[in-house]
Amino acid sequence: MIPDSFIQELLNRVDIVDVVDKAVPLKKAGANYSACCPFHNEKSPSFTVSPTKQFYHCFGCGAHGSALSFLMEYNGLSFVEAIHDLAKQVGMIVPQEQRDPNQPAAPSKAVMLSLQDTLQQAANFYKAELKKSPRAIEYLKGRGLSGVIAAKFQVGYAPAGWQNLQTIFPNYEAEALETAGLVVKNEQGRRYDRFRDRIMFPIHNQKGEVIGFGGRVINPEDTPKYYNSPETPLFQKGHELYGLFIARRAIRDAARALVVEGYMDVVALAQYGIDYAVAALGTATTPFHIAKLMRQTDEIVFSFDGDQAGRTAAWRAVMNALPAIKDGLKLRFLFLPQEHDPDSYVRAYGKEAFEAEMAAAMPLSQYIIAHLSAHNPLGSQEDKVQFLNEAEPILKQIQAPRFALMLRKKIAELAGLAPSEMQRMLKLPNTAKIQEKALQQRVRTPLSLHVRLALMLLMRPDWARPELLNAVQADGEQEHMLKQVVQTALAHPQSRPVVLLQMLTPQLPEALANQLQRELSLLDESLDFSLEFEGACTQLADMAHNKRDQSLLKQLTEKPFSSLSDQEREALRQLTSKR
Ligand code: UTP
Ligand code: MN
Repeated sequence: MIPDSFIQELLNRVDIVDVVDKAVPLKKAGANYSACCPFHNEKSPSFTVSPTKQFYHCFGCGAHGSALSFLMEYNGLSFVEAIHDLAKQVGMIVPQEQRDPNQPAAPSKAVMLSLQDTLQQAANFYKAELKKSPRAIEYLKGRGLSGVIAAKFQVGYAPAGWQNLQTIFPNYEAEALETAGLVVKNEQGRRYDRFRDRIMFPIHNQKGEVIGFGGRVINPEDTPKYYNSPETPLFQKGHELYGLFIARRAIRDAARALVVEGYMDVVALAQYGIDYAVAALGTATTPFHIAKLMRQTDEIVFSFDGDQAGRTAAWRAVMNALPAIKDGLKLRFLFLPQEHDPDSYVRAYGKEAFEAEMAAAMPLSQYIIAHLSAHNPLGSQEDKVQFLNEAEPILKQIQAPRFALMLRKKIAELAGLAPSEMQRMLKLPNTAKIQEKALQQRVRTPLSLHVRLALMLLMRPDWARPELLNAVQADGEQEHMLKQVVQTALAHPQSRPVVLLQMLTPQLPEALANQLQRELSLLDESLDFSLEFEGACTQLADMAHNKRDQSLLKQLTEKPFSSLSDQEREALRQLTSKR
């Protein structure tokens, strides 16, 4: 655990402009700097970096954060790695990381590191073994792969035999070997290598570290054809995409990603110059996969095998993608001829033909309609009712207003209804509502007094005064938030907005923390708001005063008049005459 105080000190010292500028050249634009957003594709810059607030914010995709989160998101670093990286940039030394004695030592960093190291050593071993196996090399050549591509994907070979890993892991009984999924225990408790006589495809995380393997048989009669690492603390199948680390740059350059089914598809496509493909790891495409890809590009083409299994997988991908869809995201579906998968197709017809197929791939809306009406002639009333029944759950999941509107129109038309009739029949949320919700995320609603004060204090913590604490009547969420802000500002009057926000976030309800962060991004920092601040403080004091008067009045009127002291009678007189 790195102490929070160190992280705060670090963020107070670095300049986010330098950090971002190294990765994304920035241009000065007024008080801020701007560039085209590195987290989504765009042609005109909506990504801004504020030197005063020390954070970045993209008005296009909503990406935001500190220098630390930028390094994590952009370079795929872990939190700790990003801290070390930043510290190096400003010449600070990260204090000795101490383990919290109250935290269970569960998959501790040390264990993760040794897992990581074990997997990397195994990958090196398999790679070296490939060089020694003419039979494995022959197999790969036979599938049209060059040495360059094999090296790019770090393809290896696990030799036949039961305990080959013992040669590089003298302690074959080590826990890490089993946890990493490299060895398996039989019923007698004897250990043996999981992967034997297989072509090995290492799976990398977004930092390029090996987290697992897929192994393909060479003998066609061996089963199963592919054997994958089990899920481990480092490897969750539903979260990882094969080839993403290697394809990252190419995806940004091509401004699109291609999602295929198999390891061999990814590798063969790269061999033919289509280097922006990734594969889900023998699972359906999950919402995590979609979200991960959406951070890299806003055009995703899915290409599934031409067989029935491929079609089933494609439809499942649609279902998983629906809630993640945003207007402006282009999802398309490429169905290859029945007998082909991307690997065989690109080998038979080449890159141009494959890219031509991609260009003609079916847009999501068209695919949804085609799927829903595939076995439904829409002739009778019954057909139409069934069609609507199947469309209903799909329509209900879509949040993107334009896409929802367009799809509703098409579906209503096919069902022979007016869109408004269909909306009533299926009890669909009003599109105006969806639209409004989307707009709310952009348009500012008038801010409450408490939020305004909090924002100004985040910008100028040196303006905080202890009297403000008395003026806040802490009975609501907003009041509580303002108290926290005042206290934090009093304790750290020289801190930057981003640091204060970071300290406050864990103490605040999520919605309020998000609101503060969003409003802070929108705040025009070139304004002098000292007058507004004084005005707001006075308003707050008046509110507190009124509230005190009211509760005193209530107390006094509840007592019999005869029991009041002279002082109390005087107070009551004043209070009532004020009203
Ligand atoms: P495919 O059978 O389409 O594989 O399975 P492929 O990549 O085209 O294989 P080749 O061309 O015969 O070498 C697609 C994916 O499903 C998973 C793997 O991730 C594979 O890449 N799979 C398949 C398994 O996990 N186990 C299997 O036995 C088969
Ligand atoms: Mn194949």
